[in-house]
Amino acid sequence: MRAVDIIMNKRVGKELSREEIAFLIEGYVAGEIPDYQVAAWAMAVFFQGMSPAETAALTGVMLKSGAVIDLSGISGPFVDKHSTGGVGDKTSLILAPLAASLGIRDPMMSGRALGHTGGTLDKLEAIPGYRTNLSVEQFRSIIRQNGFVMTGQTKDIVPADKLLYALRDVTATVESIPLITASILSKKAAEGADALVLDVKFGSGAFMQKVEDAERLARSLVDTGKAMGKRIIALLTDMDEPLGRMVGNFLEVEESLDCLEGKGPGDLMEVTLELAARMAMLGGMAAGPEEGRRLCEESLAGGRPRQLFLDNIQSQGGDVKQFLELRGNYRPEYRGEVRAKQPGYITRINAGQVGRAGVLLGVGRNRTGDSVSPTAGIQLHRKRGDPVAAGDLIMTVWARDAEGLNTSLPLLAEAVEYGRTAPAPRSLVLKEII
Ligand code: URA
Repeated sequence: MRAVDIIMNKRVGKELSREEIAFLIEGYVAGEIPDYQVAAWAMAVFFQGMSPAETAALTGVMLKSGAVIDLSGISGPFVDKHSTGGVGDKTSLILAPLAASLGIRDPMMSGRALGHTGGTLDKLEAIPGYRTNLSVEQFRSIIRQNGFVMTGQTKDIVPADKLLYALRDVTATVESIPLITASILSKKAAEGADALVLDVKFGSGAFMQKVEDAERLARSLVDTGKAMGKRIIALLTDMDEPLGRMVGNFLEVEESLDCLEGKGPGDLMEVTLELAARMAMLGGMAAGPEEGRRLCEESLAGGRPRQLFLDNIQSQGGDVKQFLELRGNYRPEYRGEVRAKQPGYITRINAGQVGRAGVLLGVGRNRTGDSVSPTAGIQLHRKRGDPVAAGDLIMTVWARDAEGLNTSLPLLAEAVEYGRTAPAPRSLVLKEII
């Protein structure tokens, strides 16, 4: 077999066999096939796509390129949630303890902020002492004890994805549905989850801006997940406006605790409860979404998810006492405001624009390896549908330095759109794909 023939076959739109895909990916991980040939193949995939069988084969080959977390000896069900990424999306921090309170075990391996979207690991690391680089033994022990664990990917989990993702990033081949599918599902399968709820986002703050593209991605993820023997459901959710009222690392942890205390904003609770209800279904605790949602609401009201969240902070090295003391006042020195420039109604707060301003403030990073600020971020006092008078406070903004503040404020002001009448209310959860 030769890599050049595999590239040529894909270039003309032929379906590749599992053997051809394995030859290419295994050869790449072993250092026998160079970057430039895999880059050419990725571009051919970008234009020609892949059949469901090819996508499943690629996912399986990538999964086999590294270790798989062994959860044997721990009782399940193991159910996780994955989001395609957004702005202000802290649902993982609320969902994991909520699902655990129902008896689900959530082996959550998350990522860092990249581009305009936030990262669960960066949020958690804003809690003093919190560790996200756990050994497999610590991973097993914490999930056994708390019912969930939140960590980063170890270096031996899906090494093929590390190489391929970095290559895609610099060859304009990230936005390929089969390549995204294989990248996400190989990692989720490696962490040991046997059921998965996917939050596939669309809108200005999402990876897929158009709802049709998000739906195609969701369909590919669900079909490939099923072909791998997973129980899987995807929800298409709106990410045109930031989720909740806080965007920033510590700010989002604070807001997650508010949600666990029954004081969360409506939009964030809506998406979280709809996802959690599906986790309850896949875990076998609920027959349908209504029952799942009711179980989640009852559990939240009882306070157990909040306690599990604090227990997890303790188990992962965080200082719970200091965390609770910092709540509400852990903010950087540079502070600014965005005020309404005209009266009327807010018709939109562009999430993508808020995310890009967040990177300037220090919330996110432009390049892997850049540092992030634990405390920088944005508090949204008004959102879509709210009436405003000229000069009303819309956002409080915190930056790690003066330059970040000065460059982000005009972007944030521009992110707010106004109208004379209130926009029609819309549901954030558009569709379920099963
Ligand atoms: N997230 C991933 O993990 N992989 C992709 O390819 C895109 C988003």
